[in-house]
Amino acid sequence: FFTLLLALIFGYLLGSIPFGLLITRAAGLGDVRNIGSGNIGATNVLRTGNKGLAALTLLLDALKGTAAVLIAGFFTPEAALAAGFGAFFGHLFPVWLGFKGGKGVATYLGVLTGLAWQGALVFAIVWLGVAFTTRYSSLAALVAAVAVPVALYLWGISAIAALFTVMSIIVIAKHRSNISRLLAGTESRIGAKG
Ligand code: G3P
Repeated sequence: FFTLLLALIFGYLLGSIPFGLLITRAAGLGDVRNIGSGNIGATNVLRTGNKGLAALTLLLDALKGTAAVLIAGFFTPEAALAAGFGAFFGHLFPVWLGFKGGKGVATYLGVLTGLAWQGALVFAIVWLGVAFTTRYSSLAALVAAVAVPVALYLWGISAIAALFTVMSIIVIAKHRSNISRLLAGTESRIGAKG
C-alpha cells in the first residue's frame, strides 16, 4: 500500500507541472489562460498561433504521463497504474494553479502509451480521423475517450480498461463547456484563433 501511495504522489507531482503555461510564458506570449478557451493544453497553446509551442506542450504533457508510468513500473505493475493515474490527476488538478489545471487529453495519451501501446494506437487513429474530418480537437478527444476503454476491454486488458474508463469519464466531464459549444455550433476549430 505504501508503494502505491508513493507512486500516486510521485505521479501527481510530475503531472501537475503545467507545461503549456510555462512554455507560453517563457516564450513571452503571456498567460495562455487569458486566450481562447482559457485552457492550458496544446489545443489552446495553438491559438497563440505558435505551432511549435503547441507541439512541445502536447509532447511534454504526454511525456510526463509516460515517464510516471515507466519509472513507477520499475517497482510493481500496480505502482505503474497508480503513478499514471496520479499524473493524469495532477495535470487536471495541480496544486500550483489552485487545482485549476487542464483537460487531461495529452497526459491521458501519455499514460496510455506507457501502459498499453495498442490503446495509444487506437487513441491516435481515432483522434486524427475525427480531427481531420471535423477540425474539432475537443470532439476528437471525446470520441477517442469513448473508443479507448472499449478497445481495452475487447483486448481483455481489464485492470487497465477499468482505469481508463474512470479517466475517460473525467476527460468527458472536463469537456462540459466544449460539449455545450459543440451542440451550439460555436466550438472553435483547429487552426482558428478564437
Ligand atoms: O485537449 C483539449 C481539447 O480537447 C480542448 O481544448 O482549448 O478547445 O478547450 P480547448
